[in-house]
Amino acid sequence: MIIASNLKTNLTREKTISYMMDVENFIDTISCKQDIFVFPAQSSLNLHVGKVAQGVQNAYATKNGAFTGEIGTEQLEEFKIKTILIGHSERRHILGETQKSIIEKFNFYKNLGFKIIYCVGEPLEVREEGLDVMMKYLELQYEGIDTKYKNLIIAYEPVWAIGTGLTPTLEDISNIHLKLKEKSKAPLLYGGSVKVDTAKDILACAEVDGILVGSGALNVENFCSMIKDAQKLETN
Ligand code: 13P
Repeated sequence: MIIASNLKTNLTREKTISYMMDVENFIDTISCKQDIFVFPAQSSLNLHVGKVAQGVQNAYATKNGAFTGEIGTEQLEEFKIKTILIGHSERRHILGETQKSIIEKFNFYKNLGFKIIYCVGEPLEVREEGLDVMMKYLELQYEGIDTKYKNLIIAYEPVWAIGTGLTPTLEDISNIHLKLKEKSKAPLLYGGSVKVDTAKDILACAEVDGILVGSGALNVENFCSMIKDAQKLETN
């Protein structure tokens, strides 16, 4: 399974180093067979050597240049980063990224062979319109995306579930994942208010290949506990 922690705009570099080391030490103790990703804040990136894959939460589709406030592959290479989150709802809805700019970014990083965790998800008002409207909305987020890309992972993150403590029912997660899997065979993660005490049931859902966790993974022990749950489910 894939267990990923999105640290968003949290933790200093020092705290991030300690977080990564704690995760490394933990996965060693359980001979972890799961794929673990951590996405630190940009200013907290480090050269990380180990089994945990460090990814970047965002980067511009460039090597370098005049893009104030952005980073490009020149900066990512310094930390040997080859994994990127693209299309996260906070970038779509708070930072104003359009599907067009997301497609450009996707293609740029795909051409460089990056592992891409591509996020899709519907806001509450769309959800309230019913399943058909919701699936049509999600379909638009697949537009222009190479769903057969070999280094693709998709994360289904309902916008209304992110940081709110609300989650779809397990049945809803399974049903939506089943439908999304018709669009792409890429591993499909669930994200949105996954917590230490809900991770296990979500991971046990049919069609869920892993989780992408924000606030619930900020505490490293909680994140490690989710990794342990995944490992247990796979060995059962
Ligand atoms: P929360 O787990 O805080 O809801 O955030 C989920 C998320 O956005 C992961 O990318």
